[in-house]
Amino acid sequence: MMTVVEINRLTKDYEIGFWRKRKVRALDCLSLTINQGEIFGFLGANGAGKTTTLKLLMRLIFPTEGSARILGHDIAEVAMHSRIGYLPENPYFYDYLSAMEFLNFCGQLFGLSKVERTSRAKELLSRVRLDESKWDTQLRKFSKGMLQRVGLAQSLINDPEVVFLDEPMSGLDPIGRREVRDLITALRQDGKTVFMCSHILSDIEVLCDRVAILKGGRLAHVGSLEELRQQIDGRNVVEMVVSGTHETALRPYLPGGKDLRVTATPTGLRIELTKEGDVDEVIIALRKTGGKLVSVQPLRQSLEELFLDQK
Ligand SMILES: Nc1ncnc2c1ncn2[C@@H]1O[C@H](COP(=O)(O)OP(=O)(O)OP(=O)(O)O)[C@@H](O)[C@H]1O
Ligand SMILES: [Mg+2]
Repeated sequence: MMTVVEINRLTKDYEIGFWRKRKVRALDCLSLTINQGEIFGFLGANGAGKTTTLKLLMRLIFPTEGSARILGHDIAEVAMHSRIGYLPENPYFYDYLSAMEFLNFCGQLFGLSKVERTSRAKELLSRVRLDESKWDTQLRKFSKGMLQRVGLAQSLINDPEVVFLDEPMSGLDPIGRREVRDLITALRQDGKTVFMCSHILSDIEVLCDRVAILKGGRLAHVGSLEELRQQIDGRNVVEMVVSGTHETALRPYLPGGKDLRVTATPTGLRIELTKEGDVDEVIIALRKTGGKLVSVQPLRQSLEELFLDQK
Protein backbone atom coordinates (compact mmCIF):
# COMPACT_ATOMS: atom_id res chain seq x y z
CA MET A 1 0.00 0.00 0.00
CA MET A 2 1.31 3.41 -0.90
CA THR A 3 1.75 5.97 1.84
CA VAL A 4 0.32 9.33 0.87
CA VAL A 5 0.70 11.31 4.07
CA GLU A 6 3.51 10.65 6.49
CA ILE A 7 3.62 12.71 9.67
CA ASN A 8 6.72 12.37 11.76
CA ARG A 9 6.89 13.65 15.34
CA LEU A 10 5.11 16.85 14.42
CA THR A 11 5.05 19.32 17.31
CA LYS A 12 3.71 22.84 17.58
CA ASP A 13 4.08 25.36 20.38
CA TYR A 14 2.11 28.59 20.13
CA GLU A 15 3.56 31.62 21.83
CA ILE A 16 0.97 33.48 23.82
CA GLY A 17 0.96 36.60 25.97
CA PHE A 18 2.44 39.97 25.17
CA TRP A 19 4.64 41.19 28.03
CA ARG A 20 5.30 37.81 29.48
CA LYS A 21 5.49 35.42 26.60
CA ARG A 22 4.94 31.77 27.24
CA LYS A 23 4.50 28.72 25.11
CA VAL A 24 1.58 26.39 24.89
CA ARG A 25 1.97 23.05 23.21
CA ALA A 26 -0.95 22.54 20.83
CA LEU A 27 0.45 19.45 19.14
CA ASP A 28 2.80 17.02 20.78
CA CYS A 29 4.93 14.66 18.74
CA LEU A 30 2.27 13.43 16.32
CA SER A 31 3.25 10.56 14.04
CA LEU A 32 0.77 9.10 11.55
CA THR A 33 0.65 7.58 8.11
CA ILE A 34 -2.25 7.64 5.70
CA ASN A 35 -2.47 5.29 2.77
CA GLN A 36 -3.56 5.92 -0.76
CA GLY A 37 -7.32 5.75 -1.29
CA GLU A 38 -8.11 5.90 2.40
CA ILE A 39 -10.71 8.09 4.05
CA PHE A 40 -8.99 8.94 7.26
CA GLY A 41 -10.91 10.49 10.15
CA PHE A 42 -9.18 12.79 12.57
CA LEU A 43 -11.21 13.07 15.75
CA GLY A 44 -10.78 15.15 18.83
CA ALA A 45 -12.65 17.48 21.14
CA ASN A 46 -12.50 21.26 20.78
CA GLY A 47 -8.94 22.43 21.15
CA ALA A 48 -7.41 18.98 20.68
CA GLY A 49 -5.13 20.20 17.89
CA LYS A 50 -6.90 19.04 14.71
CA THR A 51 -6.86 22.38 12.90
CA THR A 52 -3.28 22.99 14.04
CA THR A 53 -2.25 19.70 12.39
CA LEU A 54 -3.93 20.61 9.11
CA LYS A 55 -2.47 24.12 9.12
CA LEU A 56 0.99 22.64 9.67
CA LEU A 57 0.53 20.25 6.76
CA MET A 58 -0.69 23.11 4.56
CA ARG A 59 2.35 25.22 5.56
CA LEU A 60 0.13 28.00 6.89
CA ILE A 61 2.06 27.71 10.15
CA PHE A 62 5.42 26.13 10.85
CA PRO A 63 6.28 23.28 13.20
CA THR A 64 8.33 23.68 16.35
CA GLU A 65 9.70 20.21 15.71
CA GLY A 66 9.09 17.30 13.41
CA SER A 67 8.35 16.96 9.73
CA ALA A 68 5.79 15.64 7.28
CA ARG A 69 5.67 14.37 3.73
CA ILE A 70 2.73 14.35 1.35
CA LEU A 71 2.81 12.31 -1.88
CA GLY A 72 6.43 11.55 -1.19
CA HIS A 73 7.52 15.18 -0.94
CA ASP A 74 8.46 17.22 2.08
CA ILE A 75 5.68 19.69 2.88
CA ALA A 76 8.17 22.53 2.38
CA GLU A 77 8.23 21.72 -1.35
CA VAL A 78 5.78 24.19 -2.82
CA ALA A 79 5.13 22.35 -6.10
CA MET A 80 3.57 19.40 -4.28
CA HIS A 81 0.85 21.69 -2.92
CA SER A 82 -0.70 21.98 -6.39
CA ARG A 83 -1.63 18.30 -6.11
CA ILE A 84 -3.58 18.64 -2.87
CA GLY A 85 -6.83 20.31 -1.84
CA TYR A 86 -7.75 22.02 1.42
CA LEU A 87 -10.99 23.09 3.01
CA PRO A 88 -10.15 25.39 5.93
CA GLU A 89 -12.18 25.34 9.13
CA ASN A 90 -13.41 28.90 8.63
CA PRO A 91 -13.11 29.55 4.94
CA TYR A 92 -13.53 33.22 4.34
CA PHE A 93 -14.18 34.42 0.89
CA TYR A 94 -13.93 37.52 -1.21
CA ASP A 95 -17.56 38.02 -0.59
CA TYR A 96 -18.33 40.43 -3.40
CA LEU A 97 -17.49 37.67 -5.87
CA SER A 98 -20.17 35.27 -7.00
CA ALA A 99 -19.69 31.52 -6.54
CA MET A 100 -18.68 31.16 -10.20
CA GLU A 101 -16.27 34.10 -10.05
CA PHE A 102 -14.68 32.78 -6.87
CA LEU A 103 -14.06 29.32 -8.33
CA ASN A 104 -12.77 30.92 -11.50
CA PHE A 105 -10.32 32.88 -9.35
CA CYS A 106 -9.21 29.72 -7.51
CA GLY A 107 -8.73 27.94 -10.84
CA GLN A 108 -6.52 30.78 -11.98
CA LEU A 109 -4.29 30.28 -8.95
CA PHE A 110 -3.69 26.74 -10.15
CA GLY A 111 -3.00 27.91 -13.71
CA LEU A 112 -6.06 26.35 -15.32
CA SER A 113 -7.12 27.68 -18.70
CA LYS A 114 -10.32 29.73 -18.98
CA VAL A 115 -12.22 26.87 -20.63
CA GLU A 116 -11.03 24.39 -18.00
CA ARG A 117 -11.91 26.78 -15.17
CA THR A 118 -15.44 27.34 -16.37
CA SER A 119 -16.24 23.71 -16.98
CA ARG A 120 -14.60 22.63 -13.73
CA ALA A 121 -16.47 25.32 -11.73
CA LYS A 122 -19.80 24.24 -13.19
CA GLU A 123 -19.11 20.59 -12.61
CA LEU A 124 -18.08 21.19 -8.99
CA LEU A 125 -20.96 23.49 -8.12
CA SER A 126 -23.38 20.85 -9.30
CA ARG A 127 -21.41 18.19 -7.51
CA VAL A 128 -21.69 20.02 -4.16
CA ARG A 129 -25.39 20.55 -4.96
CA LEU A 130 -25.37 24.31 -4.93
CA ASP A 131 -28.59 25.39 -6.56
CA GLU A 132 -27.86 26.60 -10.09
CA SER A 133 -29.90 29.76 -9.54
CA LYS A 134 -27.28 30.83 -6.95
CA TRP A 135 -24.17 30.37 -9.05
CA ASP A 136 -24.03 34.04 -9.98
CA THR A 137 -25.08 35.36 -6.57
CA GLN A 138 -22.52 37.22 -4.45
CA LEU A 139 -21.11 35.07 -1.68
CA ARG A 140 -22.03 37.64 0.99
CA LYS A 141 -25.66 36.68 0.42
CA PHE A 142 -24.99 33.01 1.06
CA SER A 143 -26.00 31.03 4.14
CA LYS A 144 -23.35 29.17 6.13
CA GLY A 145 -24.27 25.86 4.53
CA MET A 146 -24.11 27.34 1.04
CA LEU A 147 -20.67 28.81 1.77
CA GLN A 148 -19.52 25.45 3.06
CA ARG A 149 -20.50 23.95 -0.29
CA VAL A 150 -18.56 26.60 -2.18
CA GLY A 151 -15.60 25.90 0.12
CA LEU A 152 -15.78 22.22 -0.75
CA ALA A 153 -15.96 22.97 -4.45
CA GLN A 154 -12.92 25.21 -4.04
CA SER A 155 -10.94 22.41 -2.37
CA LEU A 156 -11.46 20.24 -5.46
CA ILE A 157 -10.83 22.80 -8.20
CA ASN A 158 -7.37 21.42 -9.06
CA ASP A 159 -8.59 17.80 -9.11
CA PRO A 160 -6.33 17.02 -6.14
CA GLU A 161 -4.95 13.59 -5.32
CA VAL A 162 -5.30 14.19 -1.59
CA VAL A 163 -7.96 16.35 0.06
CA PHE A 164 -7.71 17.76 3.57
CA LEU A 165 -11.08 18.73 4.99
CA ASP A 166 -11.43 20.60 8.27
CA GLU A 167 -14.96 19.93 9.56
CA PRO A 168 -16.54 19.45 6.12
CA MET A 169 -20.04 18.97 7.55
CA SER A 170 -20.00 22.08 9.68
CA GLY A 171 -22.97 24.36 9.16
CA LEU A 172 -24.86 21.86 7.04
CA ASP A 173 -28.36 20.63 7.73
CA PRO A 174 -28.99 16.86 7.83
CA ILE A 175 -29.67 16.65 4.10
CA GLY A 176 -26.57 18.68 3.36
CA ARG A 177 -24.52 16.43 5.62
CA ARG A 178 -25.78 13.43 3.74
CA GLU A 179 -24.90 15.03 0.40
CA VAL A 180 -21.38 15.86 1.56
CA ARG A 181 -21.04 12.33 2.86
CA ASP A 182 -21.97 11.01 -0.59
CA LEU A 183 -19.52 13.42 -2.16
CA ILE A 184 -16.70 12.15 0.04
CA THR A 185 -17.65 8.55 -0.77
CA ALA A 186 -17.49 9.45 -4.47
CA LEU A 187 -14.00 10.87 -3.94
CA ARG A 188 -12.94 7.51 -2.59
CA GLN A 189 -14.36 5.82 -5.67
CA ASP A 190 -12.23 8.15 -7.79
CA GLY A 191 -9.18 6.86 -5.92
CA LYS A 192 -8.59 10.05 -3.94
CA THR A 193 -7.24 10.09 -0.43
CA VAL A 194 -9.24 12.08 2.11
CA PHE A 195 -8.06 13.34 5.48
CA MET A 196 -11.00 14.78 7.38
CA CYS A 197 -11.32 16.35 10.82
CA SER A 198 -14.56 16.18 12.64
CA HIS A 199 -16.20 15.84 15.96
CA ILE A 200 -19.39 14.50 14.47
CA LEU A 201 -18.93 10.84 15.25
CA SER A 202 -21.74 9.51 13.12
CA ASP A 203 -20.21 11.05 10.00
CA ILE A 204 -16.82 9.60 10.79
CA GLU A 205 -18.31 6.21 11.54
CA VAL A 206 -20.05 5.78 8.22
CA LEU A 207 -17.26 7.24 6.12
CA CYS A 208 -13.84 6.47 7.45
CA ASP A 209 -11.63 3.46 6.92
CA ARG A 210 -9.38 4.42 9.79
CA VAL A 211 -9.50 7.06 12.48
CA ALA A 212 -7.08 8.75 14.80
CA ILE A 213 -8.14 10.30 18.07
CA LEU A 214 -6.30 13.30 19.35
CA LYS A 215 -6.47 14.27 23.01
CA GLY A 216 -4.87 17.43 24.26
CA GLY A 217 -2.47 17.52 21.32
CA ARG A 218 -1.40 13.91 21.64
CA LEU A 219 -2.36 10.93 19.57
CA ALA A 220 -4.52 8.78 21.83
CA HIS A 221 -5.64 6.04 19.44
CA VAL A 222 -5.28 5.11 15.82
CA GLY A 223 -6.78 2.24 13.89
CA SER A 224 -9.88 1.00 12.15
CA LEU A 225 -13.14 1.74 13.94
CA GLU A 226 -13.44 -1.95 14.69
CA GLU A 227 -10.01 -2.04 16.31
CA LEU A 228 -10.84 1.03 18.33
CA ARG A 229 -14.02 -0.53 19.58
CA GLN A 230 -12.22 -3.69 20.56
CA GLN A 231 -9.82 -1.71 22.68
CA ILE A 232 -12.63 -0.90 25.02
CA ASP A 233 -12.74 -3.89 27.32
CA GLY A 234 -15.91 -5.47 28.49
CA ARG A 235 -18.24 -3.04 26.79
CA ASN A 236 -21.43 -4.27 25.25
CA VAL A 237 -21.50 -4.05 21.53
CA VAL A 238 -25.07 -4.57 20.42
CA GLU A 239 -28.29 -3.25 21.86
CA MET A 240 -31.58 -5.01 21.10
CA VAL A 241 -34.95 -3.59 21.98
CA VAL A 242 -37.82 -6.06 22.16
CA SER A 243 -41.45 -5.93 23.16
CA GLY A 244 -44.35 -8.26 23.95
CA THR A 245 -42.50 -10.43 26.41
CA HIS A 246 -41.23 -10.47 30.00
CA GLU A 247 -37.74 -10.88 31.32
CA THR A 248 -38.69 -13.94 33.36
CA ALA A 249 -40.16 -15.64 30.30
CA LEU A 250 -37.27 -14.75 28.05
CA ARG A 251 -34.33 -15.27 30.38
CA PRO A 252 -34.08 -19.09 30.18
CA TYR A 253 -33.70 -18.92 26.40
CA LEU A 254 -31.15 -16.14 26.30
CA PRO A 255 -27.46 -16.75 25.57
CA GLY A 256 -24.85 -15.81 28.15
CA GLY A 257 -27.10 -16.42 31.15
CA LYS A 258 -26.50 -14.18 34.15
CA ASP A 259 -24.02 -11.83 32.53
CA LEU A 260 -26.49 -10.56 30.01
CA ARG A 261 -27.85 -7.15 30.88
CA VAL A 262 -31.59 -6.86 30.47
CA THR A 263 -33.38 -3.68 31.48
CA ALA A 264 -37.03 -2.77 31.27
CA THR A 265 -38.13 0.04 28.97
CA PRO A 266 -41.57 1.69 28.87
CA THR A 267 -42.66 -0.64 26.09
CA GLY A 268 -40.56 -3.75 26.57
CA LEU A 269 -36.99 -4.77 27.22
CA ARG A 270 -33.55 -3.61 26.30
CA ILE A 271 -30.92 -6.31 25.95
CA GLU A 272 -27.21 -5.61 25.72
CA LEU A 273 -25.16 -8.25 23.97
CA THR A 274 -21.40 -8.57 24.09
CA LYS A 275 -21.20 -10.74 21.02
CA GLU A 276 -22.82 -9.85 17.74
CA GLY A 277 -23.39 -13.56 17.09
CA ASP A 278 -25.84 -13.70 20.00
CA VAL A 279 -28.36 -11.63 18.08
CA ASP A 280 -29.66 -14.76 16.33
CA GLU A 281 -30.17 -16.55 19.64
CA VAL A 282 -32.18 -13.67 21.03
CA ILE A 283 -34.38 -13.71 17.94
CA ILE A 284 -34.99 -17.43 18.43
CA ALA A 285 -35.78 -16.78 22.11
CA LEU A 286 -38.26 -14.12 21.06
CA ARG A 287 -40.05 -16.56 18.78
CA LYS A 288 -40.35 -19.07 21.59
CA THR A 289 -41.82 -16.52 24.00
CA GLY A 290 -44.02 -14.61 21.58
CA GLY A 291 -41.96 -11.43 21.79
CA LYS A 292 -41.27 -8.97 18.99
CA LEU A 293 -38.04 -7.41 17.83
CA VAL A 294 -38.15 -3.62 17.83
CA SER A 295 -34.56 -2.72 16.94
CA VAL A 296 -30.98 -3.93 16.82
CA GLN A 297 -28.13 -1.49 16.85
CA PRO A 298 -24.44 -1.42 17.59
CA LEU A 299 -23.79 0.68 20.69
CA ARG A 300 -22.43 3.99 19.52
CA GLN A 301 -21.57 5.10 23.01
CA SER A 302 -18.50 2.97 23.07
CA LEU A 303 -16.75 5.10 20.48
CA GLU A 304 -18.22 8.24 21.91
CA GLU A 305 -16.91 7.34 25.33
CA LEU A 306 -13.50 6.61 23.94
CA PHE A 307 -13.59 9.93 22.19
CA LEU A 308 -14.88 11.96 25.08
CA ASP A 309 -12.79 10.32 27.76
CA GLN A 310 -10.51 13.32 27.85
CA LYS A 311 -7.29 14.19 29.66
N1 LIG B 1 -2.95 31.06 16.86
C1 LIG B 1 -2.96 30.48 18.07
N2 LIG B 1 -2.33 31.05 19.12
C2 LIG B 1 -2.32 30.46 20.33
N3 LIG B 1 -2.93 29.29 20.61
C3 LIG B 1 -3.59 28.69 19.62
C4 LIG B 1 -3.65 29.24 18.30
N4 LIG B 1 -4.38 28.41 17.51
C5 LIG B 1 -4.75 27.38 18.31
N5 LIG B 1 -4.28 27.54 19.56
C6 LIG B 1 -4.46 26.60 20.67
O1 LIG B 1 -4.03 25.33 20.26
C7 LIG B 1 -4.88 24.30 20.73
C8 LIG B 1 -5.39 23.46 19.58
O2 LIG B 1 -6.26 24.25 18.75
P1 LIG B 1 -6.88 23.72 17.38
O3 LIG B 1 -7.55 24.86 16.73
O4 LIG B 1 -5.82 23.01 16.62
O5 LIG B 1 -7.95 22.68 17.92
P2 LIG B 1 -9.08 21.85 17.14
O6 LIG B 1 -8.86 20.43 17.49
O7 LIG B 1 -9.10 22.21 15.71
O8 LIG B 1 -10.40 22.34 17.87
P3 LIG B 1 -11.91 22.62 17.28
O9 LIG B 1 -12.61 21.31 17.33
O10 LIG B 1 -12.48 23.57 18.26
O11 LIG B 1 -11.78 23.19 15.91
C9 LIG B 1 -5.98 25.01 21.51
O12 LIG B 1 -5.67 24.94 22.87
C10 LIG B 1 -5.92 26.43 21.03
O13 LIG B 1 -6.28 27.30 22.07
MG1 LIG C 1 -10.49 23.01 14.50
